[in-house]
Amino acid sequence: MKNNEKLIEQAKDILYKNDVDGYTVPTHGLYPFQWNWDAAITALGWMKTDESRAWLEIEMLLKGQWDNGMVPHIIFHQEVDSYFPGPKVWGVDKDIPTTAISQPPVLVSIVKMMAEQAKDQKLAQEKLTQMLPQLIAYHQWWYNDRDPENTGLVVSYHPWESGMDNSPAWDKSLAAVPPVTWQYKRKDLEHVDSDERPHANEYDRYLYLVDFFKKSNFDSEVIYRDCPYKMYDVGIISILHKATKDLVSLCQTSKVNEQHVTWFNKQIALTESAINTLWSDEQNSFLNTDAITKESFPVLTTGTLMAIYGELANKEQSAKLKILMKSWLDETEFGISSTYAKCAQYEPQRYWRGPVWLHINWLLALGAEHYGFNEESLQLKEASQTLIEKSGYFEYFNCETGAGCGGDDFSWTAAIALHWFL
Ligand code: GLC
Repeated sequence: MKNNEKLIEQAKDILYKNDVDGYTVPTHGLYPFQWNWDAAITALGWMKTDESRAWLEIEMLLKGQWDNGMVPHIIFHQEVDSYFPGPKVWGVDKDIPTTAISQPPVLVSIVKMMAEQAKDQKLAQEKLTQMLPQLIAYHQWWYNDRDPENTGLVVSYHPWESGMDNSPAWDKSLAAVPPVTWQYKRKDLEHVDSDERPHANEYDRYLYLVDFFKKSNFDSEVIYRDCPYKMYDVGIISILHKATKDLVSLCQTSKVNEQHVTWFNKQIALTESAINTLWSDEQNSFLNTDAITKESFPVLTTGTLMAIYGELANKEQSAKLKILMKSWLDETEFGISSTYAKCAQYEPQRYWRGPVWLHINWLLALGAEHYGFNEESLQLKEASQTLIEKSGYFEYFNCETGAGCGGDDFSWTAAIALHWFL
């Protein structure tokens, strides 16, 4: 790559600059706490400069774990008032306040990668032994709490849980959620242009759900029964599935209790069969589906394509997804747009409705590699390199122009560049 040395230095500087007492903020101002999947991905970047700091990132994240095993989507390690909704609105009364939902569980897969690539194997094995019970508890929570009827498909309770906040796939189900009736002041718009962020009517409903969790006393059974938003999110299901396979492999090498392995293998088999109920012959893709109304949404997003990363597509399905991926890549220049450009809801600049995210390009490239889609995986890598050379380390990028959008000096963008190609 051009300017490789300079880009490496800049990426490392971003990690150090975003380091706050052992955890890394995604970017100062806009996101001043520790986020779940950001932390895992950022740890991969730390591995390139300071392995013990990388393990600390994960330990800090796990400090926020709930007694029931959930690893929350945000850990509010310190009070900062540049973000809304903060800990008071979420109302989680714990030593370290957190939100009440989780995020795409890439954590275990990344811990496995870290252990494999660690130069300091002694440290890696020590950390792994120490955190494995917590990782097991996190995955048990997903299946027990979010799939209590053992269908093979976990549900998600909030668009923020998907990590793809305002994806058009959530529009219809979110519209069925009532709006909050109290007044509030958003803070994201103080940091980023409003045409790059979600709309007000979406925010009203995001907050209704936050209130609903609090009013339900965070009781899993009540929430499962009454939550007005329940989604079979192909992204979460796929990322969880891949991570559970990685967890089984970690358990086997660490010689952890056989019972866990057997139990997780059962969940893996259930999902491999149940995922077919989300397949659409018309769209030639898996589709996100409302778990309350059972309506599936024909909009193609990076979430639906994540089945490739999750290794959930069978031979026929993967052949169709390869064709889809190819034309998706050909539509825009900088990798996989968060919404397929041929869908009516596509907007190249608005958050998860079109722009490109570096870590998503990377996850999909891993999936493409697994299926032997070598051309597509190479195209993803080259497009991602071009993006960084052209625009630097933004939160995400306009998929047509490559212009950086959202927050600048962004941790996961820097981390993935370091891990993947720098
Ligand atoms: C936004 C993104 C989410 C990410 C967070 C912090 O909410 O949608 O995926 O984890 O920002 O970067």
